[in-house]
Order: sequence, then C-alpha cells, then structure tokens
Amino acid sequence: MSRLAALLVLIASQTVALAQQGDVARGQQVFRVCATCHSLEPNRNMTGPSLAELWDRKAGGLASFERYSDALKSSGIIWDDRSLDTWLTDPDRMVPDNAMPFEGIKERRDRADLLAFLKDATKPGAAPAVAAQSGMGGMVGGGMMGGGRVPNLREPQASERVTRIAHCRDTYRVTTADGKTHAFWERNLRLKTDSSKDGPQSDSPAIIPAGMMGDRADVIFASPEEISKKIETRC
Ligand code: HEC
Repeated sequence: MSRLAALLVLIASQTVALAQQGDVARGQQVFRVCATCHSLEPNRNMTGPSLAELWDRKAGGLASFERYSDALKSSGIIWDDRSLDTWLTDPDRMVPDNAMPFEGIKERRDRADLLAFLKDATKPGAAPAVAAQSGMGGMVGGGMMGGGRVPNLREPQASERVTRIAHCRDTYRVTTADGKTHAFWERNLRLKTDSSKDGPQSDSPAIIPAGMMGDRADVIFASPEEISKKIETRC
C-alpha cells in the first residue's frame, strides 16, 4: 500500500470511530427534551426515574422510583449502548405498554450524540460536575427550562410563600407573604404536594405560576392533610 493510501485508510477509520463515539456537546443539547422528566442526580426522581448510573442497570430497577410500568419492570432488559439505542428509537415498539410519554428519536446521529453525553453524565459521581458545567442545577425563572430540576420550595421568596387561602363560591383568593392577594377561578388553581426535600416546609405552602397568562397557578403543600386544613371558606 502506498503511503497516501495508508494515510487515507487511517483518516477514514478515525472518521468512523468519531461518528460512532457521538458528539457529547451536541448530545447535551438533545438531552434537553429528556430533562423535563429525568434528572442525572442519583435518586432525584421526577416524572421519570433518575438516569444516574444507568448503564448496566436492570430496566425498571431503580428502587427509589415508585411509578414504573409492569411492562418495563418485567421486560428483562439491561441498559447498555445497544438496548438504549433501541429504546430511544421507539420506546413503544421495544416495550409495548411502557409508561414513558415520549415518541422516540428517529435520527441515528441524534441518538449517538445523546448516548455519548449520557454515558459520561450518568457515570457514578458525574452528576454534580455536569450540572455545574451546564448551569442545569440553577433555577431559570423559577421554572424547569432546560431543567433536570424542579424549583426548590424549601426557602420560597415572600411572593411565593402562601400565608392564607380563602375559597368563596367559584374563587380561590391566595395571600402571599409579601402581602398580595391573587384571585383564581377554582378550575385554574391546582393543589399539589411535594413531600421530597425540595418540597415546601410543613404548613408553609408555596405558589408558582403555571402557564403564560398569569391566570393559573399551582399551590404546593408538604402533605395532602394540609390542603383542606389550610383553605378557609370565607367570602
Ligand atoms: C414526558 C416525560 C419523559 C420524557 C420526555 C422522557 N422520559 Fe424517559 N421515562 C419516563 C417515564 C415515566 C419512564 C418510566 C417508564 C415505565 O415505567 O414504563 C421513563 C423511563 C426511561 C428509561 C428507563 C429507566 C429505567 O430505570 O429503567 C430510560 C433509559 C429513559 N426513560 C430515558 C429517556 C431519555 C434519554 C429521554 C430523552 C430522549 C427520555 N427518557 C424522555 C418519562 C420521560
């Protein structure tokens, strides 16, 4: 083989290797669609299970996640490069009746990049570094944009800390620690709980806006028992 031919072969094989490796930075962008449901921190579960330490884990096997479908739990899958690529191509095809509300990623390159990112980011001990580097840990406007995290309600601002809730006919009036009172049509106020360490302290529910128009909000309590205790019927 001439030296030129040898060089071309070398370049070609490196290009293939690179393509297979996937682009971690691009993969991190692709991960944004997952981050609304999945965190990379161990046992920080949201809509979906934490993806920390995913490789070699049994599907449906994270003990701290309460909401796996029977289909995923009994699938017998072990997560690795190959099974994850198949899952992310078309979850419903791989595991019919699974509970992940996600249609899949059709572009092979997007999946390769995502998996390159995830493989690094889910290694034991990797999450804090990834979060810091990408600014993922931070609250963006109190929301979870680009997320991996829901807003922490332990230390809410005065404008978020609910001091009183009154219900009258079809309206809730929510008073916050900054002295303001907001009125909501009862169908537009959602009452939720967060019993995790990110949730509000007991007897100190928090209100966060939901939707764009300011007409909807969530009030989040530490436990279900608090909900009706906190709401007075008063006109
Ligand atoms: C709308 C929420 C949502 C989105 C978006 C989402 N997932 Fe999921 N994911 C879930 C839920 C819920 C489950 C549990 C499914 C079940 O039990 O059947 C899950 C399960 C998984 C699992 C199996 C984990 C385990 O412990 O067995 C993996 C891996 C996964 N998702 C990766 C991803 C990736 C990567 C993305 C982005 C491309 C993504 N998911 C997007 C909600 C979501």
